[in-house]
Order: sequence, then structure tokens, then C-alpha cells
Amino acid sequence: MDIFEAMKKRHSVRRYVDKKIEDSIANELLAYIEECNQKSGMHIQLCLDEPNAFDSFMAHYGSFKNVKNYIAIVGKKGKDFEEQCGYWGEKVVLKATQLGLNTCWVALTFSKGKTVYQVEKGEKLCCVIALGYGETQGVPHKNKPMESLCKTDKPMLDWF
Ligand SMILES: Cc1cc2nc3c(=O)[nH]c(=O)nc-3n(C[C@H](O)[C@H](O)[C@H](O)COP(=O)(O)O)c2cc1C
Repeated sequence: MDIFEAMKKRHSVRRYVDKKIEDSIANELLAYIEECNQKSGMHIQLCLDEPNAFDSFMAHYGSFKNVKNYIAIVGKKGKDFEEQCGYWGEKVVLKATQLGLNTCWVALTFSKGKTVYQVEKGEKLCCVIALGYGETQGVPHKNKPMESLCKTDKPMLDWF
């Protein structure tokens, strides 16, 4: 699956089956995360077999089930913090999709108190990404039209 197919195939999944992520898959994802961290200075971390973050009122309220793996999006504080987290986080999400895993970005409906990732001085957590084998592959959602999300005073280029 190439990255464009992964973009089309990826939908948020909140309910997972109780199955450990295979070591070969986890290792490939970890190697990719390390590569992204090296290129970007991000401190993205793979948290495996850690049920606490999604065993809270908020997580159950948010319809999450059986989330025992997640990716912590930690980066350096600064004016482009959110942009960096979004760009590198989504690259990791698409890699996970290519490896046959399901994901869901989560900024609110998890418990920050019980997590295992590290946040060094000058860094902060942006959000986490739930990870695993989904009960389903999720469903497509309606996207807003491009014009309502961004504007340009120059003609819109094809690639954009
Ligand atoms: C930055 C970010 C934070 C999100 N936080 C949450 C969250 O706290 N709880 C949740 O259930 N979904 C969360 N989502 C998932 C969105 O609800 C989901 O992406 C949206 O419904 C669109 O669905 P799709 O990802 O399948 O296209 C978040 C998504 C993003 C991009």
C-alpha cells in the first residue's frame, strides 16, 4: 500500500480487539518513529501494552475500547509546535496504516495522569494516537471543502 492509498484507507478507529501487536510490526513502526524523531527533533514515543491511559471515565465516555497501545506525540515547545506535531504525527499514522494497524488521534478523551511516556525539559505532549487492530476499519467522514479551510491570494496550484 503506498502512502496515497493509506490516506484513502485510514479512518479513525476507537474500538480495538484484544490482540498484541506483532513484534515485527511494532519494530518496523518503532524504527520509522526513530527516523522521524531524528529528522525533526520530535520526541514521539511508542507505548505498547499500556492499558492505563485509556482506562478512564473520559476514554470510555469517548467510546474507546481495548486501547492498550498508543503513540505519544511529544515535541519541543515553540511557535510551530502544533504544525510539527500534526505533520510528523500524521506521517506515523500513515505508516501504521501501511503496516495494517488502525489509529485514532486523541487530544482529550484519555487520561494524562497514568501514562508512561517521557516529556523532557522544553518539551510538551500534544496528544496521543490510539493504536492497534480495530474491530472494524472505521468509516469515511465528510470533509469540508478546501475553500472553507484555507485561502490564498494566488491561484490555487494543482498540488495544493
Ligand atoms: C488533533 C486531533 C485530536 C483529536 N482528539 C480526539 C479526541 O480527544 N477524542 C476522539 O474521540 N477523537 C479525537 N480525534 C479524532 C477525530 O474525531 C476524527 O479524526 C474525526 O472524527 C474525523 O474522522 P477520521 O479521522 O476518520 O477522518 C482527534 C483528531 C485530531 C486530528
